[in-house]
Amino acid sequence: MSNHVEFNHLIGEVKMTSLKGKDILHGSQFSKRDVEGMVRIASDFEKELKKKDSLTLLKGKILATLFFEPSTRTRLSFETAMQRLGGGVISMASAEGSSAAKGETVGDTARTVSQYADVIVIRHPRIGSAEEAADAASIPVVNAGDGAGQHPTQALLDTYTIRKELGSLKNLVVSMVGDLKNGRTVHALVELLSLYQARLYFVSPRNRLKQKGIRIEETEDLERAASESALIYVTRIQKERFTDLTEYERVKGSYVINGEFLKKLKKKITILHPLPRVDEISSDVDTYPGAAYFRQVRNGVFVRMALLAMIFGKR
Ligand code: NCD
Repeated sequence: MSNHVEFNHLIGEVKMTSLKGKDILHGSQFSKRDVEGMVRIASDFEKELKKKDSLTLLKGKILATLFFEPSTRTRLSFETAMQRLGGGVISMASAEGSSAAKGETVGDTARTVSQYADVIVIRHPRIGSAEEAADAASIPVVNAGDGAGQHPTQALLDTYTIRKELGSLKNLVVSMVGDLKNGRTVHALVELLSLYQARLYFVSPRNRLKQKGIRIEETEDLERAASESALIYVTRIQKERFTDLTEYERVKGSYVINGEFLKKLKKKITILHPLPRVDEISSDVDTYPGAAYFRQVRNGVFVRMALLAMIFGKR
């Protein structure tokens, strides 16, 4: 049976969305309808992958991953998603192994890769670099992290995970913990949560992130924020973004989720983390029922499959 038949019921839905042929650069570009379409398509793919290993929806299409910064999950899950959809992948896994090391601009690299592939997924240490690539490319460009800027596809998979773990995106109270200034996953997720009027606690040793249109309370008291929240979104202190390492030393280890903390909390809470973790969640938390961060990793594949299907406008 071809996928044309299998996914017939999705045709209207995918067409309804505004992502066909689009660059994915910023969390603020998604409408509620985009998010809800993505959630439905991703959960359909999740069900399909229980029945078979791969589909043929994007057969013949090629995805290029251009990673100028380290990555495990984002690059591998995009590549997995494309291959599960029957497409092919070409990959540049480091700046050192590419002509960037010879001084080529991001724009020229994107222009070049447009001659080979049908979609580009790029990660780069500079804010605005994905936009630069998108301006130069003749194919859709997906921002997989631009410095301390944005990481919109992580926000989509976080949202999908929240929806699955908590059953709904309505009336959410979330504690965002860690490096809120430099954490691009937080920047993008806040944009999506603002579509649902979530209530947020920003728990950080240095609260400098500001956002309009969403109820935010800033605090240094993790225990108080967590006791009011259904979900804690924990992030790593982004060492690579610090120009002053003494400042990093000062804030690292400020907040640690461990078994003792959870015992004190006296209620069940869902814990997400975009990963990698350093020491902000101890391994004794991994067996806690609300520890959803490895389920979150898995959801990344379904969500990125949905996003690719939407970009190609294919059912
Ligand atoms: C994050 C990133 O790269 O921004 N990782 C990810 O994509 N899952 C978070 C981090 O590096 O701390």
